[in-house]
Amino acid sequence: MTDLRRIAHTATAVATAALLLLVAGGHGALAAEPEPERIAIIGTGNVGSALGERWAAAGHAVTWGTRRPDDEDIAALVARAGHGASAQPLADAVADAGVVVLAIPWKAVDEVLDKLGELAGRIVVDPINATRFADGRVTLAHPALAEHIASRVPDARVVKALNTTVAEHMRAPPDTHPVTVPLAGDDPAAVARVTRLITDLGLVAQPVGPLYNARHVEAMGILYIDVNLMHEDIPGFEYRLEPVD
Ligand SMILES: NC(=O)c1ccc[n+]([C@@H]2O[C@H](COP(=O)([O-])OP(=O)(O)OC[C@H]3O[C@@H](n4cnc5c(N)ncnc54)[C@H](OP(=O)(O)O)[C@@H]3O)[C@@H](O)[C@H]2O)c1
Repeated sequence: MTDLRRIAHTATAVATAALLLLVAGGHGALAAEPEPERIAIIGTGNVGSALGERWAAAGHAVTWGTRRPDDEDIAALVARAGHGASAQPLADAVADAGVVVLAIPWKAVDEVLDKLGELAGRIVVDPINATRFADGRVTLAHPALAEHIASRVPDARVVKALNTTVAEHMRAPPDTHPVTVPLAGDDPAAVARVTRLITDLGLVAQPVGPLYNARHVEAMGILYIDVNLMHEDIPGFEYRLEPVD
């Protein structure tokens, strides 16, 4: 088995263990519910609102980190989400979070990380597409954004995920076909926990190896945007990856 496959298999095994904590007893086996996550979602736009509303409904503790916690539209978002969700200024939002999702434009990454401060031990999910639109084309504006983020928060566990589908499908996945979400990260336990969150959205998680591969997942995001948004003559698509032995 290659190293890459071993990492993916390890992540899948840890995910399975986390999801199905079997308590064996004399009368059979009981599946224990995994603990809800404490999730800080930075950004309240298309992606941040969709993820937060879905995860709150799935039982996770959601706090949005926003520059505008007192604005009316943020209050409406919090009310819509219910389930104890809240909105806080950026640094306050991450105070108790185990998972921090950066649902922000790529150009805001450094500024936001400066404001968030210490993220040691947290899982940082990067769903960002670093896009440059010019001359009717979209191209990658950064060669390896997730690795850049990891270099800025060296004691956090960065996972690249959710940049290869559209926010509408995070809010409501299509009922006609499964949508695969490739995710890349160096920490198998972090990949397993993000796998569970992706599953809670009704999407199909496919670990694709270490964070080094995030740059390839980022290129997949650009291909997705290019085909789906920039060409009327090419049929749109969603990623559907099938694991093989
Ligand atoms: N839209 C999609 O379908 C989609 C799909 C996959 C991935 N993505 C990626 O996900 C990210 C978010 O996309 P989106 O469509 O949700 O964008 P969006 O609707 O423009 O929302 C971005 C949010 O980021 C926050 N923000 C912006 N500048 C900021 C700054 N300087 N400091 C702090 N917060 C800032 C804002 O939240 P507040 O005003 O509340 O602070 C804003 O609502 C992007 O990187 C995009 O490439 C998007």
